[in-house]
Amino acid sequence: MNKNTYMVTTPIFYVNGKPHIGHAYSSIAADVLARFQRLEGKDVFFETGTDEYGQKVERTALSKNITPQIFADRVSKEFQKMQKVMNVQSDFFVRTTYAAHKKSAQALWTKIKEKGFIYLGYYEGWYSARDEAFVGNDELKTSPTGEKTTLEGAPVEYIKEPSYFFKLSAFTERLLDFYEKNPDFISPMGARREIESFVKQGLRDLSISRTSFKWGIPVPDDEEHVMYVWFDALSNYLTGVGYPETEGEDFKKFWPPKVHLIGKEIARFHAIYWPAFLMAAELELPKKIFAHGWWTVEGQKMSKSIGNVLDPLALSDEFGVDQLRYFLMREVPFGGDANFSRSSLITRINTELANDLGNLAQRVLSFVAKNHNGVLPGRVACLPEDFDALLKKAYGLHAVVKEAMDEVALTKGLDKVWEVIREANAYIDHQAPWKLRKTNPERMTVVLWVLVEALRCIAVITQPYMPEKMSKLLDLLAVPSEDRMFASLQAALLREEISFPKPEPLFPRIEVVENK
Ligand code: ME8
Ligand code: MG
Repeated sequence: MNKNTYMVTTPIFYVNGKPHIGHAYSSIAADVLARFQRLEGKDVFFETGTDEYGQKVERTALSKNITPQIFADRVSKEFQKMQKVMNVQSDFFVRTTYAAHKKSAQALWTKIKEKGFIYLGYYEGWYSARDEAFVGNDELKTSPTGEKTTLEGAPVEYIKEPSYFFKLSAFTERLLDFYEKNPDFISPMGARREIESFVKQGLRDLSISRTSFKWGIPVPDDEEHVMYVWFDALSNYLTGVGYPETEGEDFKKFWPPKVHLIGKEIARFHAIYWPAFLMAAELELPKKIFAHGWWTVEGQKMSKSIGNVLDPLALSDEFGVDQLRYFLMREVPFGGDANFSRSSLITRINTELANDLGNLAQRVLSFVAKNHNGVLPGRVACLPEDFDALLKKAYGLHAVVKEAMDEVALTKGLDKVWEVIREANAYIDHQAPWKLRKTNPERMTVVLWVLVEALRCIAVITQPYMPEKMSKLLDLLAVPSEDRMFASLQAALLREEISFPKPEPLFPRIEVVENK
């Protein structure tokens, strides 16, 4: 039914700390997917937001002597600002402290309870506030100093309290069956295997409410309890589309999401708990959970104590927003772990952006300006055979990048574009229009025409990754704004004579100053 719509989400981020490069990464990746689908002509719903309840946020706020709400207001604003600066264009920014969200989360709870999958019990065991996760005895280790921690080293505490439980154990078989029938549900493959083998061990019922603190959404009909923050957080995906469904046109239009984009550390919540909640509530499941990798910084885990937490705003100030977006999407195949280093950022900017793409555009456009009066004639009726290869590749780019996008292979999309860029660079060197100027001016015109046409395809396709720079390139190529959707790629644009504005460089080189 909703073939022409596309819903994509990021995790909603905890407000216990400032946004860093990891949050920017997920936000930008989802933005690339959303922008791509908009250019495809789809009706897109891109949701992101902040996760504001729970023990971790409450404790952080108290440690700063402010109320959790005031604290959440402040930090949520910083996330919104970060996304704005990164040019992340969401359709809805959810905050879990919104009244609308409370309504959705409570409606989901009530529905699941009515179906008989929630019961009152008592939780006694370990809890990690850092991960907001209940931790089984088999998921603990003892640190060198003798404290118990999670396997990843997060501190745990022992809690005993009345709690509602979700009958997760009833979903072991149904989930395994679902994974098998929907092999693309969890990507990449590594995450899928991990989830499957975890579920195969059999699932325990899940505690879904807390009674020892108040900073959460009240459980319907039992004000002693607040919802476990992950129950509340996961239901955010329904909030954006106006669940409960009787009230939401958007729900009918956009549900289920095509992709929940997440970091790999929260795959269990999204690929086990969330589909089980939805099954229990008899709601449709998302099409895909894509778990991307983790960024380290100069080889180290980002942490406040090391003081290496990367601020995306400072980086974009220094290097440019699109340069940063490009680097993040390009550095490692999307899905894998990545390492941030200034030197690799600078190398990519200089070689791939300034040289490969920037120089290509500058060479072609300044040649047209100098030797062709900044004007090219309309489509050449009959292109000689040997011009076909580059144009064919350029016109074929949309199809290959679209395929990559469907697999959330964001880096592969860029690889495909750069293949064409390299081919265009080889073509200009080989055809040498500067020689043709004297020996065969007609052919020179055709060569320039082919190059401009290839650049147009490159710029149109690369818009989701580098929206500002590509919009500037399309301006330089004199492509009218109404011709920048993918549908316009079909027909060559240079049908009529076209005159270009004065060329300008796109990507300044970064001069490396040794400071150590
Ligand atoms: O887990 N590298 O929020 P959170 C890559 N509120 N991505 C990173 C990253 C890194 N080093 N650090 C963070 C939560 N991320 C919950 C989610 S969803 C219903 C609730 C990104 O603030 C990545 O997307 O801890 C990761 O999953 C997310 O931020 C975790 O953000
Ligand atoms: Mg986290």
